[in-house]
Amino acid sequence: MAKMWAGMASGETSKLADDFNSSIRFDCRMYRQDITGSMAHAAMLSAKGIISSEDASKIIDGLQTILDDLEAGTLEIDENAEDIHMFVEEVLTKRIGDAGKKLHTARSRNDQVALDLRMYLRDGSDEIMDKIKALLSAILDLADQHRTTILPGYTHLQRAQPVTFAHHLLAYAMMLCRDLDRLEGCKKRMNVSPIGSCALAGTTYDTDRQLEAETLGFDAITLNSMDGVSDRDFCAELLGDLAILMMHLSRFSEEIILWSSWEFKFIELSSDFTTGSSIMPQKKNSDMAELVRGKTGRVYGDLMALLTMLKGLPLAYNKDMQEDKEAVFDAVDTVKMCLDIFAGMISSMKVLPENMRKAAQTGFINATDLADYPVKKGMPFRDAYKISGQIVADCIAKGLVLETYPLESYQTYSTLFEEDVYQEIDLANCVEKRISAGGPSAASIDQQIEYVRNIIGE
Ligand code: ARG
Repeated sequence: MAKMWAGMASGETSKLADDFNSSIRFDCRMYRQDITGSMAHAAMLSAKGIISSEDASKIIDGLQTILDDLEAGTLEIDENAEDIHMFVEEVLTKRIGDAGKKLHTARSRNDQVALDLRMYLRDGSDEIMDKIKALLSAILDLADQHRTTILPGYTHLQRAQPVTFAHHLLAYAMMLCRDLDRLEGCKKRMNVSPIGSCALAGTTYDTDRQLEAETLGFDAITLNSMDGVSDRDFCAELLGDLAILMMHLSRFSEEIILWSSWEFKFIELSSDFTTGSSIMPQKKNSDMAELVRGKTGRVYGDLMALLTMLKGLPLAYNKDMQEDKEAVFDAVDTVKMCLDIFAGMISSMKVLPENMRKAAQTGFINATDLADYPVKKGMPFRDAYKISGQIVADCIAKGLVLETYPLESYQTYSTLFEEDVYQEIDLANCVEKRISAGGPSAASIDQQIEYVRNIIGE
């Protein structure tokens, strides 16, 4: 089939090459952005007297019918078209005749595709940010219910010091707040219009790029036409942000998987978000969390594919760049699914505070508090650290914990130990005493919750 670009080139390529070259099967999802962009382009061309207002009206009305028909399902995307830009222009020209052929004045598919992609990802970023906020809201609800639920905090996956479940959850909330901030920044840099850069060197027509950009809701226009068509930083940046976001979800998934194991049993996932085994009747597997952890790899892969594709490209447009779309679309789709799953999983999971407390009661997670006790009475920390270690060893030898270790025994190490040592090592008190900013005390948790609420506008 002869191509629209048949001119000096014959436009006759082999079927094999056509299929290899075609991007319609994945760029068709940008049809709305492509049509909206073309409407603004026609309006600008007419405002500048480059085409007549009659032609512009025909184009805009024709594009509207295409959009309506695509949304209604009465016009099907032609899989044999080269890409979405060609498809829309071909249908338009079939519908309105010669006026359709004027649409592509003072633009190229190179600036058109860059425009469409920025518009598509701008919306995609908004959707992702909304989903992050929904997840944050689910995390906040849970944190709010577990302000005083004590569990061990871990380092090296060894019980370390007591914290609250709210504190632990809010650590993830902080990560997600930074993800939101990163995506906001990314969107700001993305929201710059490349249209009017044309193939690479701008145009001799007296266009108004600013007007076209404003019509399409952009904050600014790109300032160098070669950069305008070649820049995919907005894709790389978005994928970088999404890779970090997935890394956060993956770490959270890992904890959810651990917490729901029989070894921990800190939580129970709702059966809406678990699966059984085809052979072992007792199983309740945390597949959703495992899949989120697994899908993190593919988002990293998308980022690597994109960066690698870009690294050797000379200016300006090269067909390699068509490979950008599958990577970004895959990452955006994956992240959206994972965020939805996560919010559902978090809001439906059952927390088992008794098991958390039981775990907190063993493992000597109040040993630091024990060491701090004589320090507050004047003993140097290193000495206090040493005797606390000896006391822990003695407890282990005698099958005791610090709470049940007799006062006389404490006093054999230092006469600074008095009856109130038990108050000092009480788990709830250990948490509440951690008054440093950002710690697990109730006052700090209030502040953290307030901070996140402000960010998500609750
Ligand atoms: N389908 C192409 C892409 O996704 C559109 C731009 C084509 N430009 C060109 N000079 N062949 O990159």
